[in-house]
Amino acid sequence: MTRTIDKSLKHIDNKINQMRTKNKDSDHFKVKDNVFDEATLNALHKLFRKRYIEALGGPISTGKEANVFLAEGEDKELAIKIYRISSSTFRAMEDYILGDPRFSNIRNAKKDIIFAWTKKEYRNLIRAKEAGIRVPEPMITERNILVMEFMGDDGKAYPLLKYVSFDIEDGQRIYHTVTKYMRMLYQKAKLVHGDLSEYNIMIDTHDLSPIIIDVGQAVTLEHPRADYFLRRDVENIIRYFKRYKINTSPEELYTYIINSSE
Ligand SMILES: Nc1ncnc2c1ncn2[C@@H]1O[C@H](COP(=O)(O)OP(=O)(O)OP(=O)(O)O)[C@@H](O)[C@H]1O
Ligand SMILES: [Mg+2]
Repeated sequence: MTRTIDKSLKHIDNKINQMRTKNKDSDHFKVKDNVFDEATLNALHKLFRKRYIEALGGPISTGKEANVFLAEGEDKELAIKIYRISSSTFRAMEDYILGDPRFSNIRNAKKDIIFAWTKKEYRNLIRAKEAGIRVPEPMITERNILVMEFMGDDGKAYPLLKYVSFDIEDGQRIYHTVTKYMRMLYQKAKLVHGDLSEYNIMIDTHDLSPIIIDVGQAVTLEHPRADYFLRRDVENIIRYFKRYKINTSPEELYTYIINSSE
């Protein structure tokens, strides 16, 4: 028992070291050293010990605020999203606040915000799934780490909508599913995505069905900016699907999302 755990721990540490080495030689994997600060490493170890993760795979995506890695669970592939504690969003703020003795606790405050954000994405995924929307199924969060269902095949993630093209008929079908999901998210889950675009929709390459991702920023309907976010999501979706001869106006789609009952 202990030996298996040791082996897994060794494996994860090796993986991390490999990534660091890769990062030095090329910028193909833009994995910054600070992705795995010690606390994040400990949180990963905890997920190993609890057997949520059996092995860590390579990076799927390295973004501004989070990195996504492939991992192996007990009987399926997983995606692990790790929010970076020192993300650029907080850096500007940090410059003004660090060193000011009144804010000596800012590091904790910042961490707390990121942990809360991770939990928020987990809860939003659950709400969206319960409303019947296809999203990755969330498993667990630990600090700044979200473990979820891997959307892809044999370790290869499905492509983003941005990178695939379809014939008109399939494009229109995808549009109808996406807008139905926007309505279900609004009416059933009582959420507005807030960052919906071709960059946060994956496409299942078997049946060309859309999968909504990246729901950390999604807000509840009573949020003061919910309406503004919804209108922006609507604009993005209308803009993107124009190429598939969708002639709906933003106003029409907006009304469908908030009023339609079919
Ligand atoms: N469950 C998943 N299965 C497979 N791939 C995923 C999954 N979740 C995310 N990805 C991949 O990782 C990428 C980044 O994920 P996501 O959009 O959730 O993070 P992000 O917040 O946009 O990151 P950033 O804004 O920092 O770039 C996605 O575009 C997708 O390619
Ligand atoms: Mg994204």
